[in-house]
Amino acid sequence: MPDHPSAYKATWNHLAATEESALMHVAGYTDPEKIKEATDITLMWLRKCLGIHPMDTYLEIGCGVGRVGQALAPQVHRWIGCDVSEAMLGYAKNRLASHNNVDLVPINGFDLSPIPDASVDAVYCTVVFMHLQEWDRFNYVREAYRILKPGGRFFCDNANLDSDIGWQVFMASAAIPPEERPPHISRCSTEPEIRTYLIRAGFQDVQTQFAGVWVMGWGVKSFPSFP
Ligand SMILES: C[S@@+](CC[C@H](N)C(=O)[O-])C[C@H]1O[C@@H](n2cnc3c(N)ncnc32)[C@H](O)[C@@H]1O
Repeated sequence: MPDHPSAYKATWNHLAATEESALMHVAGYTDPEKIKEATDITLMWLRKCLGIHPMDTYLEIGCGVGRVGQALAPQVHRWIGCDVSEAMLGYAKNRLASHNNVDLVPINGFDLSPIPDASVDAVYCTVVFMHLQEWDRFNYVREAYRILKPGGRFFCDNANLDSDIGWQVFMASAAIPPEERPPHISRCSTEPEIRTYLIRAGFQDVQTQFAGVWVMGWGVKSFPSFP
């Protein structure tokens, strides 16, 4: 786990030194069929929790090689992929080359400063929180709130500590001596943690759900109320 947000960049550029290594660290396999199966499940959750509409501008925090963007870009007005790793974004650029409604944006590992306030309709962050320190998870939730238009939707997930597989992930990490822990080691969340981030960031209609190892949370940015 990097000590400082800037260390995320070096860590993930290194993990993405080859396309095979990038895919292994994004998905755990390189088989296109298995990647498509996993992506279909991600899209199913986005459709259920946020909705996917043709006029939406969608943004992914930690987009990796563009696994989700490849399937989502044809269904929305604009898809923006943000990632701390320029190497990951390079693979995403190739994967998404046939789409003319895609922007790929390098970020600093901490915030979404290149993205203007109230400029997107939906933001999601999947399979990323496990690699972030808690403060950085929350900061991305807060940043998602900032860049969403009123009425905009946000989704995030993490491995759930309070599940059997989540506990296995926890114990596998616990077995690694402290001095040997890799900087991208997986760290789980709990449902109250995810719910707290969404509520503290200001989201309304906050909901959470469990599925297998995952805990997911989503909410809506409310419209300003006028006296
Ligand atoms: C396991 S991959 C998941 C990629 C993508 N979300 C997917 O599901 O296919 C984690 C991604 O998060 C990115 N990442 C790691 N730390 C980050 C940070 N602090 N800020 C933004 N992206 C980060 C990595 O570069 C990598 O692309």
